[in-house]
Amino acid sequence: MKFISILALMGLSVCFGQPASAAPRLAMTPPMGWNDWAHYQCGFTAQTILANARALVRTGLAARGYDTVTIDDCWMLKSRDRHGDLQVDPRRFPDGMRPVAAAIHALGLKFGIYEDAGYATCGGFAGSGAGKDGGQPHFLADARLFASWGVDYLKLDGCNIQPATGTAGNAAYRAAYQAESIALRKVGRPIVFSESAPAYFQGTPDWYDVLRWVRRYGQLWREGTDVHVYDGKQPERSRFGSVMWNYDYNLQLGRFQTPGNWNDADFIIGGDRGMTLAETRSQLALWSMMSAPLILSSNLDQLSPEAIAILGNRAVLTVDQDPLGRMATLLRRSAAMDLLLKPLQGGEYAVGVLNRSPAALAIELAPRDLGFSGARCRFDVHDLWTGAQHPSAAVLAARIPAHDTDIWKIRPAGACGAPARMGAITRIVPNVPQSRQDSRDYTRCVAAPGMVRECAGTAAQIWRIRPNGTLRSARECLTQIGDRAALARCGPSASQRWTYTLLGNLINRSSHLCLTGPASGQLALRSCGHNVASQIWTLPNDVTVGSGRR
Ligand code: GLA
Repeated sequence: MKFISILALMGLSVCFGQPASAAPRLAMTPPMGWNDWAHYQCGFTAQTILANARALVRTGLAARGYDTVTIDDCWMLKSRDRHGDLQVDPRRFPDGMRPVAAAIHALGLKFGIYEDAGYATCGGFAGSGAGKDGGQPHFLADARLFASWGVDYLKLDGCNIQPATGTAGNAAYRAAYQAESIALRKVGRPIVFSESAPAYFQGTPDWYDVLRWVRRYGQLWREGTDVHVYDGKQPERSRFGSVMWNYDYNLQLGRFQTPGNWNDADFIIGGDRGMTLAETRSQLALWSMMSAPLILSSNLDQLSPEAIAILGNRAVLTVDQDPLGRMATLLRRSAAMDLLLKPLQGGEYAVGVLNRSPAALAIELAPRDLGFSGARCRFDVHDLWTGAQHPSAAVLAARIPAHDTDIWKIRPAGACGAPARMGAITRIVPNVPQSRQDSRDYTRCVAAPGMVRECAGTAAQIWRIRPNGTLRSARECLTQIGDRAALARCGPSASQRWTYTLLGNLINRSSHLCLTGPASGQLALRSCGHNVASQIWTLPNDVTVGSGRR
């Protein structure tokens, strides 16, 4: 069965074989809550969970939307009982799981649990998947058990999945996650399904295939590396680099996201040790610009009042929870800065500026920098961190401290018109070790007149995408010329028109060849391969399913 054929953007034709998700309509805005993993790993008991659940309520964070308390790995024993049932670890949960779930519900919160689609969890505890040496999976029995406890949210990890002989890993993962989604629909309780499958394929060509099918089975998915967990031996070790890394890979995947189907950039560790307040602001603002799930993972009892105020900032949270659920567009990326724009319901936009550098950064943005035209274009500006309102402003100006992110909501006045579809065109450079943790290494930008370069935020790296399928920079159009792509005067030729696919290919409409870029150097046209890194691009306004044209 063909799942999705080509989805073309730029006002182009769209053809789907199937709707993206046949699952019940859950999590129509990104899930929010708390999970123990990034702070405690396996070092928790029922008391730890309940203390954090109470802190969610006491701090007011629950009332701001952080409403789901999820117990991650290590809650169970390594083996099942003689009936084949999971066993709750009696040292951690002496009274079993039911009273813990009931206490969480009694606080007005939802209850989430962790399992694994393989034979064992990542921590080596009993998984729901088929046994190591074959045997039946336990998806349905385990889902029934979870439903009997009142589970509202399941995170299903992907360690220890064994491909059947002769099948690829992707197929084995798909079968397991599909089986869980079928099981969840049978248990008579709506359970949000968080899938970790894509994370096991990050950096491989299969990644994009997995990102296509997870949308059918669950509401959110982890697509990459874990954010750095708290380390009691070096509590002050900075974790900001790991937050930047997760932000970088998540930002490239907007086209897979739509309300009810969320990319999950992993936990919010802001507020915990290893993250400054500026970095905490950055994580919440960037996750909100991406409409990423907001799952706190810290010791909530130790959050400072300043951190609680940041994490509970109502105005920023409305950007995350905006009903359109759009991923921000990367308008510009330089070594120091990312400029992001996100359309919101009701004709407003969120603007975010990340200062990833270790020095303060002064910025001044005119409407044209955000894609708006018209000399008389003005914005009503709301600074979401300070609360300041600036009616009818002609520029956004700020001085952004090191590692901080400023975020505003703007309402353009009538003279602005709709913004152009404008911004950077990027590709991922695979196999960059996470330890480099530098956006400039992870992404490259397409630069006029036809090169791939380090992202530098120059005018040559800003592209306008027209509904007719042209990619323009400096008023010229990216054109296939022989086996290369370069700028030429815009005309009616099909060699200047491009079709964009869900897999990220830019296909020339004249030659049907794919735009191909090395990590650095001349753009070329080559036969389209299957998920070839040099042929996978992220475009401004990188929506597919979110366009409402299923
Ligand atoms: C994986 C996941 C983490 C956490 C651990 C538990 O690493 O990505 O979020 O669930 O497993 O073992």
